[in-house]
Amino acid sequence: MKTQVGIVGAGPAGLVLSHLLAQAGISNAVLEMHTRPYIEERVRAGVLEQGTVDLLNELGLGERMMRQGLMHYGIELRFEGRGHRIDFADLTGGKGVMIYAQHEVIKDLVSARLAMEGEIVFEAREVCVDRIESEKPVIRFVKNGVAQELECNFIAGCDGFHGICRDSIPKGVLKIHDRDYPFGWLGILAEAPPASHELIYVNHERGFGLMSMRSPKVSRLYLQCKPDEELSEWPDERIWEELQKRFSTRDGFSLTEGPVIQKGVTGMRSFVVEPMQFGRMFLAGDSAHIVPPTGAKGLNLAVADVRVLAAGLKEFYSSGKRELLERYSEICLRRVWKVQRFSWWMTSLLHRFSNDNEFDRRRQLAELDYVTSSRAAATTLAENYVGLPLE
Ligand code: FAD
Ligand code: PHB
Repeated sequence: MKTQVGIVGAGPAGLVLSHLLAQAGISNAVLEMHTRPYIEERVRAGVLEQGTVDLLNELGLGERMMRQGLMHYGIELRFEGRGHRIDFADLTGGKGVMIYAQHEVIKDLVSARLAMEGEIVFEAREVCVDRIESEKPVIRFVKNGVAQELECNFIAGCDGFHGICRDSIPKGVLKIHDRDYPFGWLGILAEAPPASHELIYVNHERGFGLMSMRSPKVSRLYLQCKPDEELSEWPDERIWEELQKRFSTRDGFSLTEGPVIQKGVTGMRSFVVEPMQFGRMFLAGDSAHIVPPTGAKGLNLAVADVRVLAAGLKEFYSSGKRELLERYSEICLRRVWKVQRFSWWMTSLLHRFSNDNEFDRRRQLAELDYVTSSRAAATTLAENYVGLPLE
């Protein structure tokens, strides 16, 4: 097999890149280790920045999102039993975010790509990359028990945090920056109409809480928990009881309860590798960086990376120039670090840390008070949440 760009991983990064390249007439193939139903059902993120929404629409992939997604123009920050709205539209000149599940985005991207006869190889096993420093890198994999080789001009490592591309770069090339947090999120999906029409982020003595949604009938809720929390210790009743305590307000708010249809624990970390490129392989999305989910940025950052990569590859194939490709890492990392900063800040603002003392608690409450009462501070949150402009 031969193609111009070999893409490892059919997540948001790999699939959006595949569409951008196809639109520019650049041949590509996506290799995905899992089955199509698996990647189309995996519950993950749910917030799309305006820029991500616009891109999906420009690519002609936004039809279902525009019908089923929910546009939101604000969020609530809740602390000390009171809610405070951050009005994105007012603070950012009309911008907002779209609530539309990541796995629905994946379904739209996969079906459109296959309808255009794009190549996505599902259940590609034992994927490895080779000769990445040469002009002719190669991806090897096993499909249906048969070893295969994909020769390409470039490789896009879009294989997520646990993928193989990043680790294929020789030791000593990449510099790793990371931070672990002493907590995780226990997330549930519940057949219960969301109790508010906008997302609620709660800072509570008992820990962080988040109410999000997937549709007018399905809530997505999260609780700060231990990083290694055992799900077996959290029967549904205990989850609801804890959520109700954290979301309670002075005027008697309560969450709508309903059957829990999915639950899981997500760890939290901040992670960046520099540079995001080696030889003819480019890392994009979670393979190069992870943000804690408090800023709802992981998917959006993955999409921002591949926009830069696609522009660089277009320049190369149309003019032979490598200027943009050579600046890929530098351009992406500028955004990555700003998004890291924002995600870390939202996380520190809203969670309880194990070593918090009374001083830390007061400082956190003062910061929440400031963010919700100063237009300048609220604007900082709003412009980051809806998405910083692309370079
Ligand atoms: P991924 O979506 O991870 O895609 C990588 C793809 O590569 C996968 O399909 C994987 O199967 C495939 N792959 C991996 N290894 C190989 C291999 N060796 N060969 C072939 N294919 C391979 N973000 C938020 O903003 N909010 C959230 O609530 C949120 N929740 C999350 C929950 C979980 C459990 C996880 C893991 C992530 C969550 N994120 C969340 C982050 C967000 O989902 C990611 O940032 C986003 O998926 C990144 O997209 P990506 O394409 O870079 O990587
Ligand atoms: C979600 O809907 O899953 C979601 C929303 C906002 C976040 C994280 C996750 O910050």
